[in-house]
Amino acid sequence: MSNEEQKDLPKGVVLKEHSYDGIQEYDQRLPRWWLLTLYGAIIFSAVFFMIDKYYSGSESSSERVESELRQINAIRLASSIDVSDNEMYWEMSQISTFTESGEKLFQSTCSACHGANLEGGIGFNLVDGEWIHGAAPSEIYQTIYDGVPNTGMQAWGTTLGQKRITEIVAFILSKNDETSMRASAAQEQ
Ligand code: HEC
Repeated sequence: MSNEEQKDLPKGVVLKEHSYDGIQEYDQRLPRWWLLTLYGAIIFSAVFFMIDKYYSGSESSSERVESELRQINAIRLASSIDVSDNEMYWEMSQISTFTESGEKLFQSTCSACHGANLEGGIGFNLVDGEWIHGAAPSEIYQTIYDGVPNTGMQAWGTTLGQKRITEIVAFILSKNDETSMRASAAQEQ
């Protein structure tokens, strides 16, 4: 445009030749700080992408959602224990939070008599499919809670409490075959 307009501009600023409805463009290199921000953002996004991918492993976002749902379900189960609800134990037996802590308790409190692999010894075998005092999970819970009078099987209710015993039952179930246990429990009725 005209040289007069160029004079009004800050020092060092050049305008492009063309004009769109009287609007003109600067014709300048982008400032260094601006370019650095742009390149910095590009590098950051690439690095961030790699770190994110690396740390989340091969887990896809749907797997992550699923594992979080499992966590929520575990919390729901733990906060609403109904010891007469057989389905609750079966659900718990699928969740490692419960079976792992049940296993620890079993190994420290029960394995001396029932064996490290539940194969029995002084106490009954707990994986042979035979349930003298009932095969339903709620009956197993009750056997552990109340014990069996005049045998080596003491009442664990006051020592261990409700929550720990449900975890132990969940662990015992996880070592048994669900279909045949459900069948034996149904036969008892
Ligand atoms: C001092 C040994 C001893 C310890 C420790 C012990 N038990 Fe027992 N348990 C027995 C004996 C003996 C029996 C068999 C009772 C009977 O004669 O009916 C038994 C029976 C059982 C039964 C019934 C099995 C069935 O066929 O119905 C279950 C379930 C059981 N125990 C679980 C446990 C759990 C869980 C623990 C740990 C908290 C535990 N026991 C600790 C000795 C023990």
